[in-house]
Amino acid sequence: MAKTLITLADATLGYPGKDTLIDANLTFDEGRVACIVGGSGCGKSTLLKALIGLLPPKKGQVEVLGTNLYGSDENQRDAVLRQIGVLFQNGALLNSMTVLENIMISLQEHTNLSDGLMEETARLKLAQVGLEHAATLFPAELSGGMRKRAALARSLAMDPVILFCDEPSAGLDPVTAAGLDDLLLSLKEILDITIIVVTHELMSINAIADRIVMLKPGGIVFTGSLAEAKDSPEPEVVAFFRRKQLKGAEGKVSLLEQMENQRP
Ligand SMILES: Nc1ncnc2c1ncn2[C@@H]1O[C@H](COP(=O)(O)OP(=O)(O)O)[C@@H](O)[C@H]1O
Ligand SMILES: [Mg+2]
Repeated sequence: MAKTLITLADATLGYPGKDTLIDANLTFDEGRVACIVGGSGCGKSTLLKALIGLLPPKKGQVEVLGTNLYGSDENQRDAVLRQIGVLFQNGALLNSMTVLENIMISLQEHTNLSDGLMEETARLKLAQVGLEHAATLFPAELSGGMRKRAALARSLAMDPVILFCDEPSAGLDPVTAAGLDDLLLSLKEILDITIIVVTHELMSINAIADRIVMLKPGGIVFTGSLAEAKDSPEPEVVAFFRRKQLKGAEGKVSLLEQMENQRP
């Protein structure tokens, strides 16, 4: 049995004065790629925020790497947060710094490495994402795909045990997005990390997911393997996974898909 790295125990997630988004028991196991999927606004990013220490549950517990993330011990919590990497939706690179400097930020903050070692580590991370040639460039000089890779290198700087990604392929063309999926899969193998990805891209889900957690407004509608998701009779799950198949069969793009393709 794979080790459980994350447990939501009767956790209620939401915002003050708003309807509950998620009220769930949920676990994530070591060594898998889990995709959190579901329609826009159903709470995917909210779930991610709760898992990375940015949103305390209204009720219940969020346990990450054996620690209650919102318990009283701040040192323990910081120790856990140092072991997770996050690739935010917008990449969030600092424009005034080079790619290399961006990656060195968290090393400067969290380690006592010498400048030389820090630079060496940052260059290694850049090599892992195929950007060794871009170390001295500024974010504005990078393509969308390169920016994502640079942000990914930064999220890997501290050798995380778990990597969280929010819509990593948003705004990328299909070829670049597929390249990013391949990179995530190879990083999972090489670095032996657990990856949790928020995405609604079926191509990505099919390429990378071992496990699916599907949300709908008000809660979790499905958890299970990718194969189980495709066999699920749940109407929301069927509707989600049929989108592309229907398009393929009829050669038509649904309105939902057209709208999604137009999203920035
Ligand atoms: N900081 C916030 N305060 C209040 N409501 C929020 C906040 N962030 C998100 N929401 C609301 O919570 C719901 C879920 O948002 P989100 O988790 O971002 O959805 P998703 O990532 O699935 O598109 C939305 O209705 C959104 O408006
Ligand atoms: Mg989101």
